[in-house]
Amino acid sequence: MATDGKVITCKAAVAWEPGKPLCIEEVEVAPPKAHEVRIKVVATGVCHTDWEYLFETGKGMKFRPFPLVLGHEAAGIVESIGPEVTRVSPGDKVIPLFLPYCGECERCLSPKTNHCKKNWTNMQAGVLADGTSRISCKGQQVYQFLGVSSFSQYTVVPDTSVAKIRSDAPLDKVCLLGCGVSTGYGAAINAGKVEKDSSCAVFGLGAVGLAAVMGCKVAIARRIIGVDINPDKFEKARQFGATDCINPRDYSKPIQEVVVEMTGGGVDYALECVGSPAIMNAALESTRDAWGTCVIAGWTETETMSISVEKLLMGRTLKGTYFGGWKSVKDVPKLVDDYMNHKLKLDEFITEKLPLVQINKAFDLLKSAINIRTELLFRDKIVYM
Ligand SMILES: NC(=O)c1ccc[n+]([C@@H]2O[C@H](COP(=O)([O-])OP(=O)(O)OC[C@H]3O[C@@H](n4cnc5c(N)ncnc54)[C@H](O)[C@@H]3O)[C@@H](O)[C@H]2O)c1
Ligand SMILES: [Zn+2]
Ligand SMILES: [Zn+2]
Repeated sequence: MATDGKVITCKAAVAWEPGKPLCIEEVEVAPPKAHEVRIKVVATGVCHTDWEYLFETGKGMKFRPFPLVLGHEAAGIVESIGPEVTRVSPGDKVIPLFLPYCGECERCLSPKTNHCKKNWTNMQAGVLADGTSRISCKGQQVYQFLGVSSFSQYTVVPDTSVAKIRSDAPLDKVCLLGCGVSTGYGAAINAGKVEKDSSCAVFGLGAVGLAAVMGCKVAIARRIIGVDINPDKFEKARQFGATDCINPRDYSKPIQEVVVEMTGGGVDYALECVGSPAIMNAALESTRDAWGTCVIAGWTETETMSISVEKLLMGRTLKGTYFGGWKSVKDVPKLVDDYMNHKLKLDEFITEKLPLVQINKAFDLLKSAINIRTELLFRDKIVYM
């Protein structure tokens, strides 16, 4: 490629400081170093986590250094590779991932977990393996969110955080497998291990919750109860396989009591996809005693949960999931296959498509009633140096 080994000048949405809208800037993206891959981003979803790290930093969220390029749910094409990269080649279609998979460590070799820690500390701190970022703007280092930074036309990621996918995959759809859809789907399939003919309740019907509904449906659950305070989400939830949809605000009693009554004792599986300890509790208490399983997919770094020990003593299981339990680099290509084979829905999650320059509008849309995922498509002119 003409750009191989050179700095690329392109556009990115830079977060200069917490709590302020993003600015579209010209940034320099350095060539990849050893075990790194430079990617031309084609499409990226806008996830709540991006918004939260911009606007909730300082309210207890882990501090991320600024300036920062956010974005972590993307798909693109490999532009160039650094020395010692063997897993991908220029021109390959890829999905960059915030969760690594080195394939060699004790965790990667164990079927019990997907929590590979390769480059973990650095990626959480916004830098790559050598302690620096590959993105700069106006002479200043710009940090990389979760080692990804997909709100940039080009980015550089570790080779252990990039999944090579089939060449006929539509990047503007499969980008959603970089975060929310994989998380919710895996919460049902991997973490919950939802069984045929079981009863399920999914709390929160955003992208993660709808994907959890989809996972329950693929597992041939008999009953799938969708729970959300926003009834605008119900129609889509039914399309995804929910058999009942309920709004906690329509009842005077706690929603877990409603679910227990509806199911004659509680659901076999409850999946929390909101990120609130009160709802995590409601989800746990809506499961059946003796064998009910509650999976937490919703995120909070700041809050704690207080639960009735007796609920656990009576045989319930409570567990959490990160990225749906998928071993990122290894499993995401299989999820792409599932989409291409019509086993997984993706198109139905996309409620808006915008160019990168409208990123702040995409953040505003996160609060709209019918928003599931806004996708940013990268068609802006690119300048090479
Ligand atoms: N575990 C992971 O690896 C992982 C990965 C991605 C996202 N997440 C987390 O998953 C959660 C969901 O993400 P999303 O993108 O689907 O978010 P979202 O905001 O699109 O969806 C959340 C839904 O919950 C509903 N809700 C809010 N309060 C409720 C209540 N009291 N009862 C019932 N429903 C309620 C909202 O109306 C909305 O439909 C977030 O916390 C996100 O950070 C976790
Ligand atoms: Zn996300
Ligand atoms: Zn590993």
